[in-house]
Amino acid sequence: RRIVVLISGNGSNLQALIDAQQTEELGGEIAAVISNRGDAYGLVRAREAEIPAVVLPHHEYDSRERYDGALIKVIDRHAPDLIVLAGFMRILTPALVQRYHGRMMNIHPSLLPAYRGLHTHQRALDDGIGEHGASVHFVTEELDGGPLVVQAAVPVMSDDTAETLAERVQTREHLLYPMVIRWFLDGRLQLAGDRPRLDGQPL
Ligand code: GRF
Repeated sequence: RRIVVLISGNGSNLQALIDAQQTEELGGEIAAVISNRGDAYGLVRAREAEIPAVVLPHHEYDSRERYDGALIKVIDRHAPDLIVLAGFMRILTPALVQRYHGRMMNIHPSLLPAYRGLHTHQRALDDGIGEHGASVHFVTEELDGGPLVVQAAVPVMSDDTAETLAERVQTREHLLYPMVIRWFLDGRLQLAGDRPRLDGQPL
C-alpha cells in the first residue's frame, strides 16, 4: 500500500510518518512527497529518507484549476492508495477533492468543528478555552469540514503562548496521524457515504 504526502512547510507530521514507515508501523510506504514550496523543510526530510520529493510551485500556474490539474498528474504517477495532507497550505479545487473522495485525509490543529482555517492556536488562546487539540478528517469540498475520524485533546495552560500550545498539540498530531493512516492502509478504516467506519463500526 502506498501513500503520497502533500506538504508546504516544516513537515514534522511527515517525519512522524517516515519514522513509522521505518519501524514498519505505517502499514505501507510513502511513495512520494509533493510540496508547493521549494523551501519546505519537509523536502529535506524526504530526501534524507530517500523518498522521491517533488516541488510543484503554485506561482508557475495562472489558475487554481491548472495547478490542481498538474498536481493530479504528479499524484497519479505514484498510484497512491491514500493521499495525506500534512500541512499543505493550499485550497483544493472541487475537481481534485472529488477525484480522491474517500482516499484523502487532512490533519488540522484544532478540535473541529472549532477553529477551522488558520491561526488556530492563537484563536483558542484569545477565547480562553481550557481544551484544544488536533483532528484527523477525510477531505471534502468544505474547508476543514470533512467527516471526522479521530481527535486528540490537550489542556490549555494559563501561561501558554501560541508556540507552546502548538508544540503540545503537535506532539499529539505525531501520534495520531500514523495511527489513523495505518488503519486506512490495513483496510480497517473507510468512508461509507459521509461517515467514516472503523472495523465496520460508524465513528
Ligand atoms: C500541523 O499543525 C497540521 O495540523 C496543520 O499544519 C501543521 C503542519 O506542521 N495542518 P508540519 O509541517 O507537519 O510540521
